[in-house]
Amino acid sequence: MQMSKRISHFQASPIRRLVPLAREAQKRGVKVVHFNIGQPDIKTPVEALEAVHNYSDDVIAYGSSEGELQLRTSLAEYYKKYGVDDVRPENVMITTGGSEALQFVFMTLCDPDDEVIIPEPFYTNVATFANIAMVNLTPVTSSIDDAFALPPVEDFEKCINKKTTAILLCSPNNPTGHVYSRDELLQLLEICKKHDIFLVVDEVYREFCYDGQKFTTILSFPEYRDRIICVDSFSKRFSMCGARVGAIVTFNENFMSDAIKLAQARLCPPAIEQVAAAAALEAPESYIDEVVGEYERRRNTLISAIQEIPGVKVSRPKGAFYFVVDLPVDDAEKFAIFLLKEFSYNGHTVMFAPAEDFYVTEGLGRKQARIAYVINEEELLIGAECLKQGLKEYRKRIMGIK
Ligand SMILES: Cc1ncc(COP(=O)(O)O)c(C=O)c1O
Repeated sequence: MQMSKRISHFQASPIRRLVPLAREAQKRGVKVVHFNIGQPDIKTPVEALEAVHNYSDDVIAYGSSEGELQLRTSLAEYYKKYGVDDVRPENVMITTGGSEALQFVFMTLCDPDDEVIIPEPFYTNVATFANIAMVNLTPVTSSIDDAFALPPVEDFEKCINKKTTAILLCSPNNPTGHVYSRDELLQLLEICKKHDIFLVVDEVYREFCYDGQKFTTILSFPEYRDRIICVDSFSKRFSMCGARVGAIVTFNENFMSDAIKLAQARLCPPAIEQVAAAAALEAPESYIDEVVGEYERRRNTLISAIQEIPGVKVSRPKGAFYFVVDLPVDDAEKFAIFLLKEFSYNGHTVMFAPAEDFYVTEGLGRKQARIAYVINEEELLIGAECLKQGLKEYRKRIMGIK
C-alpha cells in the first residue's frame, strides 16, 4: 500500500528533523544547546496559568467555530495599542495557533495551482501549508548583505500573473529578524491594489522589536483594508506555544464568510486554552516589557559572540528571536549532523536549523543556518563556543582546510 503522491513532496521540518540525532547525542552524555527551535524558556503570564487552574466548567464543551466572543472582544481591544481602534469581534477568527490561521488563509484565498509571492528566506512551515492547499510559492529573494530588507518592489511586481492571489510577509520576520517599515508595507499595498491581490502579514512576533524600533501593523492602513489579512498568535507573545491559540484578523467580510466553513469543519479552537489566552491579555504591560528586554539582551549577547567567529557572516536582527548566518562550510545540514553525531566540546554540542528549506530557490541557503535565541545567555554563549570550535573541527576534518 502506498501513501499519497502529494505527501511524498512535503518536507520534514528542518527545525525538527534532526531531533532524533540530538536525542542520541544526549544518550551519549553530550548536552545539546538548542539554537534550532523557537520554544521560549520564558514563563507564561500567571494570569493565564491561574485561569487554567480555576477552570470550573463541568464539561469541556465544543465552543463556537469562530472562537469565543470574550476572547475575540479582548483581542479586538488589544489592537488599540497599535493605533487600530476599529477592529470588532466579527473581524477576528480564533484559530488553533497561527499555523491553522496560515492554512485557512491559503485554502480561502487560493485554488490549486494558484501562486502566492513570498520573500525568501521565510518561515519554513509555510511551504507545507502551501502544499496542503496545492499552492505554489513564488519567491523573491532577500539578502543577508542587505540585512534581509524588502527586495525592490519591482521584483514582486514582475512575479505577478493571473494565478497570483496574494503576497505573504512575516513581520517581525522569522527567520531573518527584519521588521518591515511603514513605507515598505505601503509600497507593497500599492502593488497589491494595482493588481487586485491580497497582502497577508504574519505578525505573530509583533511585540518583539528592538533598538527602540516601532512596529507597524498591517491593520493600520484603513484605505487598503479590504485586501489585508493579518495572522496572529498567542504562542510567542505570551510564551504559551503549547496552548495552540492564534487568530485571523481581517475587515474583508467575504473572506470571513468563506473561512468560517473551514472553521466549522474542525468544530472549534481549544476551549480551555482560549480562556487562558483571554487571561493572558490581562497581563500587565510590564510582562511584555520585561520579556522584550530579555530577548534584546540575548540577541546582543549572541550576536556579539557569533560576530567573533572567523568566516561567519551575520546580519543583526531587529525583531522576532531569530537570525540567519552564512557559515564557512560546504553544506549547513551536513555540518549540523556532524555537530550532533561526531562532535562535542566540554561535554556540549549545538543544534541549529539548516536554512536551505527556508528558501524555494534551489541551492539558496545551503550554507546558511537559522539561529533562535530563546534560551538563557549562559547557554547561548556555550552554544556559540560550540559553533566556533565545531566549525574549526569540521573544516579541518571534513573539508580538509587547515
Ligand atoms: C512566523 C510564524 N508564523 C506562525 C507560526 C505558528 O505559530 P503557532 O501555530 O504556534 O501560533 C510560527 C511558529 O513558530 C512562526 O514562526
